[in-house]
Amino acid sequence: MAETVIVTSAREAGALVAGHIADEIGRRRDLTLGVATGSTPLEVYRALAERAREGLDLSGISVFSLDEYVGLPAEHPASYAAVVRTEVTEPLALDPSRVHTPDGAAADPDAAAAAYDRLIVESGGVDIQLLGLGHNGHLAFNEPGSSLASRTRVKTLTTATRRANARFFSDPDDVPTHCITQGVGTILQARHLILLAFGAAKAPAVAQAVEGPISARVPASAIQLHPHVTVVVDEDAAAELEFSDEYRHAWRSKPAAQPL
Ligand code: GLP
Repeated sequence: MAETVIVTSAREAGALVAGHIADEIGRRRDLTLGVATGSTPLEVYRALAERAREGLDLSGISVFSLDEYVGLPAEHPASYAAVVRTEVTEPLALDPSRVHTPDGAAADPDAAAAAYDRLIVESGGVDIQLLGLGHNGHLAFNEPGSSLASRTRVKTLTTATRRANARFFSDPDDVPTHCITQGVGTILQARHLILLAFGAAKAPAVAQAVEGPISARVPASAIQLHPHVTVVVDEDAAAELEFSDEYRHAWRSKPAAQPL
């Protein structure tokens, strides 16, 4: 079962996860971090940015983001390339040449997706992958029904996801219909997965991902196949977990020397 840590706030989660990433960078300057977009990981980035200001050198790390809209140039403010630039690359003072996003503006998106998957593998893979999850249990842009063995590819966005993401566009019709997303199989190759979720609206998806049956209906449930997963949720997002008392007990009893 995934280690599940129940915290009091997204801020506490950000401090915990950023602390772990900082420790790992201390051990390995050229760590590869997988980043997610969306509001969920922002406190992790904020806490890392604070550490960067205090002297943590992140310039040696490489970053791979999970997904990108098809048809949006990297300069478009709603593109994930732009979001990663403003939320991650700039505040963390990363080397931009080491920060990668699928090329959503490529003339051949299928080829761009395959090239991105190859690049991740050939670069040695992702050490720590940060993940959010959708209300419907989607992981990156792997919507319900996605193959649990899938690799990076072009996918069609569901109406629900387009609606949820319309807030980032001036006109809801401007939300692209397709994306390039790392596949579930690609994500599962990262060495350590850290899944974050906050708020009551995520509670059903969290319970299904952590304790439900492993099913393509809930792509996030594929985390149960991974040997090293940390789920960090607040009380509201944890509300539907059946074994929350066990998780709290295990976390309180965790040996101090054992990292996340
Ligand atoms: C988006 C992204 C996912 C993200 C999810 C949740 O569509 N493609 O990577 O995890 O939806 O977003 P949020 O964190 O804003 O709830």
